[in-house]
Amino acid sequence: MRDAAPDQSQTVIHLADYAPVPVTVTHVDLHLRLDPLATEVSARLTCRRQGPGVMVLNGEGLDMVSLAIDGVPLEASRYMLTDTTLTLHDVPDAFLLETVARIAPQENKALEGLYMSNGMYCTQCEAEGFRKITWMLDRPDVMATYDVEIEADLPVLLSNGDEVAPGKWHDPWPKPTYLFALVAGNLVATTDQFTTCEGRAVTLNIWVRPGDEGRTAYAMDALKRSMAWDETVYGRAYDLSVFNIVAVDDFNMGAMENKGLNIFNSKYVLASPDTATDTDFALIEGIVAHEYFHNWTGNRITCRDWFQLCLKEGLTVFRDQQFSADMRSAPVQRIGDVLQLRARQFREDAGPLAHPVRPESFVEINNFYTATVYEKGAEVIGMLRRLVGDAGYAAGCALYFERHDGQACTIEDWLACFEEATGRDLSQFKLWYSQAGTPLVSVTESYGDGTYRLTLRQTVPDTPGQTDKAPMVIPVAWGLLNTAGDEVRPTEVLELTEAETTLTFDLDARPVLSVLRGFSAPVRLEYQQSDTDRLTLLAHDTDPFNRWEAGRALSKDRLLRHITEDAPFDAAWLDALAAVALNDGLDPAFRALALALPSEDDLAQSLHDAGVVPDPTAIHAARKRAFAAVADRLATDLPRLMDDMATPGPYTPEASDAGKRALRAVVLRLLTTQDGGGAARATYDGADNMTDRMAAFTCLLEAGDPNVADQFEAQWSDDRLVMDKWFMARVAHAEPTRAVQIARDLTARPDFDANNPNRVRSVLGGLTAGNPAGFHNPDGSGYEFLAEWLLILDKSNPQTAARLSTAFDAWRRYDADRQALISAALTRLQGQPLSRDLSEMVGRILG
Ligand code: ARG
Ligand code: ZN
Repeated sequence: MRDAAPDQSQTVIHLADYAPVPVTVTHVDLHLRLDPLATEVSARLTCRRQGPGVMVLNGEGLDMVSLAIDGVPLEASRYMLTDTTLTLHDVPDAFLLETVARIAPQENKALEGLYMSNGMYCTQCEAEGFRKITWMLDRPDVMATYDVEIEADLPVLLSNGDEVAPGKWHDPWPKPTYLFALVAGNLVATTDQFTTCEGRAVTLNIWVRPGDEGRTAYAMDALKRSMAWDETVYGRAYDLSVFNIVAVDDFNMGAMENKGLNIFNSKYVLASPDTATDTDFALIEGIVAHEYFHNWTGNRITCRDWFQLCLKEGLTVFRDQQFSADMRSAPVQRIGDVLQLRARQFREDAGPLAHPVRPESFVEINNFYTATVYEKGAEVIGMLRRLVGDAGYAAGCALYFERHDGQACTIEDWLACFEEATGRDLSQFKLWYSQAGTPLVSVTESYGDGTYRLTLRQTVPDTPGQTDKAPMVIPVAWGLLNTAGDEVRPTEVLELTEAETTLTFDLDARPVLSVLRGFSAPVRLEYQQSDTDRLTLLAHDTDPFNRWEAGRALSKDRLLRHITEDAPFDAAWLDALAAVALNDGLDPAFRALALALPSEDDLAQSLHDAGVVPDPTAIHAARKRAFAAVADRLATDLPRLMDDMATPGPYTPEASDAGKRALRAVVLRLLTTQDGGGAARATYDGADNMTDRMAAFTCLLEAGDPNVADQFEAQWSDDRLVMDKWFMARVAHAEPTRAVQIARDLTARPDFDANNPNRVRSVLGGLTAGNPAGFHNPDGSGYEFLAEWLLILDKSNPQTAARLSTAFDAWRRYDADRQALISAALTRLQGQPLSRDLSEMVGRILG
């Protein structure tokens, strides 16, 4: 047995302290004899001195069996072993370090390093999991080639690179430890082929547990489209003879880009029409692409240190968003990306967890795989592209790939390529990497005597540890319409570089401003645009994003005024929504997005921004009333709209059909407010795909249907991924006053597996994110429930516990009573022995 005491060291690591290693490793030779409780890991590391200093290897929770240099066992005086390090004194300039370690993958519930999931062995090494497998320089700037031999009585043995003999793998591409992977188990593959533009024949495999073979087709298709797209758009071809993807049930994150051996949370790879929704299909497409794209942006060119995480993640998210926009509707993709950014990143940026896209210090790097690093990081790339233009972006990327292939790089390296390729000075732009917080851009305009005057002002809010920030470079795309809705000035990009800028034009008549088109920068706008102008934009703007945004602004304004002033829902707004809903000239997916009301969390944050203390219960009720008002306005049209959006023929995950189903789902929710669930019941009973079934299921749960939960369960109880949806929906669509008790009861079921992150997130996330009014129950029961589970989970899986703790990050928005309850729950947690992950989070959230 190993010591299970949590790692409580709170050592802060700083970007400024970066130093290269004195002794590096150029080749790793691994031999693993797999056993659930006594896996033996023999490592032979080819080491070479490159500067003065002692060699300190990382190794965590390893039992040492032997240690030798150049074949000679090491005397005790020549090394020092601790719980986390192996220090070697006076090593030669070049030598072979041989270690044998023993580990117990079966006992590893943190899902980091080598662990077991449903009888199969798998690994997760990013960020610092390799040190739980063997002693090594576990940092991204040490890049080595690998030979791996796996010994196990299992049919499928996989590692990185190319298979040279059964169970023996060679990876010729030097890589850091975090890209190492190993999989062994009873798996079956779906196989396909791809020939690269360089003429390389590549075997593509998706490995799954027997029984899941029927659910791999879509991921395979997405993989081939990703490979072709990266060749066409970025000129990047694949570089090994095999590309393996493995589906794993127990996984902390979405997926992992290990060289030649991507490992996926099964939720993001397995799909069939009967078990996955349109949203699942779209996520699978995006994540398969994301991990594949990492082969160049992440693997061939990696990060010098973990502070540079956005170098690979921001860029790769940007690339997968571009890909999805090309595969689907670009405007719909953009609206979805912005909704996500605002929901997750703006919230993070507005609270105690705000940090720069490139953080400058951390305790636990796993706590920085955040919306800021990923999604804001992607927005920063999008702004760079806008500023240097498409040709400049292509030239900068080409230089980056050419100059840095095979290297571990920094943001400075990246930006230098664009400065050199385009001649543009990016020093002010670089502030986007170091200044946290969402900039606020206020817009004022005036028209008189034939002159139109537009003033933009920017401020960057204070965030933890950062005040008095400098103005950023903000690309603001804008255009003008006349009041009849014709465009009178097409899109231009204003580069706001000062705290304030004013533009003036001669115009015959007052224009209607369309500003921040395409959401050209990740900023908040402060702009009191009139209802009439918003209605004009919603009906006529040439920029689809701003068309949607105008409708969103109107809806939000109505909801906020309803909450704060009890204002009724006016006909002008309802008519405008109805016009969009019924406009057959618009993409159904767009119409669905336009009809969706701002989320409860969005409204809570907006109230807070306006200086009003949000009441989650009142927000929930207001949103329900708004929905009923929309339903009343559209009442006579709803049944026809349901029929119009029918998708005859068998289900396909294509965006066009998915759009129709999305609009039908919104219509069904509206209908349910009127018929109490009749239409939803008919849809549920007749559904031939999971998208329609889930849409109807959630409506029926909200309508209080007494049988539907049991019916669903009876049909799907053997399907883990489908049951995750059931667990989540039961909590998210529960009546708020009952949500905590329902969540609690669900955690007591035998099929609630606390070691499976998907199941845990279904219930806890279903409450904290899916049912804010339930989570914020004034009696504090939601807070207590979450805190209890954080403590339980932290003992086995600190990473997942830390991630779930972010549900508390917006606590200062709420009233004094709720704040007191949350801070008491957090303080109680702080009094317990916590992991490094969770204690860092709780400390930062409390501030
Ligand atoms: N690099 C992976 C991706 O974005 C994420 C892995 C993060 N894992 C972790 N334990 N922090 O595709
Ligand atoms: Zn990634």
